[in-house]
Order: sequence, then C-alpha cells, then structure tokens
Amino acid sequence: MSGAYSKKIKLKPFDKYDYYQKSVQSPDVDVEFLRDVYQEIRGKKPISMREDFCGTHLLCCEWVKLHRSFEAYGVDLDPEPIEYGMMHSQSQLSNHQRSRVHIVQNNVLSKKLPRADIIVAQNFSYFIFKTRKLLLKYLKRVHSTLENQGIAVLDCFGGSQCMGAIEEETAHKDFSYFWDQEFFDPITNHGLFYIHFKRKGEKKRERVFTYDWRMWSIPEIREMMDEAGFSKTYVYWEGTDRNGDGDGKFVQVETGEECESWVAYVVGER
Ligand SMILES: C[S@@+](CC[C@H](N)C(=O)[O-])C[C@H]1O[C@@H](n2cnc3c(N)ncnc32)[C@H](O)[C@@H]1O
Repeated sequence: MSGAYSKKIKLKPFDKYDYYQKSVQSPDVDVEFLRDVYQEIRGKKPISMREDFCGTHLLCCEWVKLHRSFEAYGVDLDPEPIEYGMMHSQSQLSNHQRSRVHIVQNNVLSKKLPRADIIVAQNFSYFIFKTRKLLLKYLKRVHSTLENQGIAVLDCFGGSQCMGAIEEETAHKDFSYFWDQEFFDPITNHGLFYIHFKRKGEKKRERVFTYDWRMWSIPEIREMMDEAGFSKTYVYWEGTDRNGDGDGKFVQVETGEECESWVAYVVGER
C-alpha cells in the first residue's frame, strides 16, 4: 500500500426511483397546490384526487396525509413503479391513511377509471400522446370521469431553451441529476429527453429514464380541453424570486412572461 490512505465508500445499491423522486418531485408542495386551486375555483374543499401516470404514486400518499377524509386514486400501466410505491411510500403511512390510497393498474385511456374531484397528470406524462387525436381522447376520458364539480390539472413546460439540444446538471448532496435534451424537431414538435444520474465516486449512469415526447403548448392544450367539453380553462404561472428564478409559487394569470424555460399548470373546469 502506498503512503496515501485509500478509503472505499460503500454505496447503497442504486435505486432509480429514489433518485428520481429526490430530483424531480415535491409531492408535499404539490398536494397543497392542488387542494388550494380546487378551493379557489370551486369555493369548497375537494375530497378525491386521481393521479394519472402515477408511477410510484408519491402524490397519492401525500394527498391522504392532508386530511383524514381525503381519498387518492392512482392509475399506471406499469406494475414495477406501482409495487415500488407500495413498498416504499404506502408502507410509511398509517393504516387509516393507507386504506384511502387506491391504485389501479390500467391505461389512462380506459373508459373505466375511478371518478375524482381533481384529476392530475404531472411531470408532463401526457406528452407521450403525440397526436391531437390521442391527446383529445385522453382529455375526453378525464372530463367524463371527473365528479360534477371536478377539475383537471396538467403541468406543462416550454421556453426557447426547450427547443434545442442542451444538458443541465443539478448537484445534490451526494449525487448529480442531469436533464438531457438530445433532440427537438420543430416540424413535429417531437423531443427526446433523458435523465442521467451520477453518484459521487461512480461513473455516470446514462439514460436511466427516457422520454419520447410531443411538446404541447398551452394554447393547444386549452383548445383541446375546450373541445373535450371543459367549460372553462385557467393557467397558473410560476412567480420569480430575487434572482429571477422560479419561486415554486403558481398563481392564476391571463398573460405569461417570455423566458428561456418555464413550467406552468393548465387547469380545466368540468
Ligand atoms: C414519468 S412517469 C411519471 C411519474 C409520476 N407521475 C411523476 O410525476 O413523476 C410516467 C408514468 O406513466 C406511465 N404510463 C405511460 N403511459 C401510460 C398509459 N397510457 N396509461 C397509464 N400509465 C402510463 C408509465 O408507466 C410511467 O410510470
């Protein structure tokens, strides 16, 4: 052994869902936003929330913590993240909270899905619908399974930066998260995006998650909501902090602000 003392750090097995959740999700803030938007639009508290494309259904698990009467429904096609959520998130809930989380392994385009006061699609998951016909079909299904006073909430992102090839690194305590936009076609608005991770002391793990998406714009989504039968649509735009970055607080607006990259919510009222 040379004079240098070499110390090997033993890392836990790589858990892609854990790193994903730490990098891109803030379910505690999101559920409060959903409850408050419903209250603002409907003037009363919601009870049920359905998380479409729920994956590990973190949002469902946070929703039932907000109030003892709240019910959460999650829908996803893939049994793997569903099972992960059961093992890692549902297991942290009390029995009463867990009894109010209902997960359905199904296609969000199915006609038979649980009704809810709020139906939410987060992290742009509906961007997998690459044609107007498919997205409209999805919005019609959402509309028909909302409770009478229900609202649909879809997040959306855009800005000039999203229409070019870039890779952005976000450093966390013991790992880095990379958002990689490999390709964008202005003719079709199709984009190919990846999430990579790099843990300290390890080489970068490339393409842990892949997103093959159509970039939908806010006016397109609002027009399709209108066509799907929604009576009114709203846009919630993020405020800015002192450095000009997003502050995580979304308010209802009529006009947006030109910026390199933005995230907003489009809300449709049944
Ligand atoms: C990016 S993950 C979203 C996870 C989580 N909702 C979030 O906010 O981060 C997308 C999920 O959509 C699911 N999915 C894709 N197409 C679907 C469909 N047609 N019906 C139901 N789930 C679908 C995938 O299995 C995957 O778990």
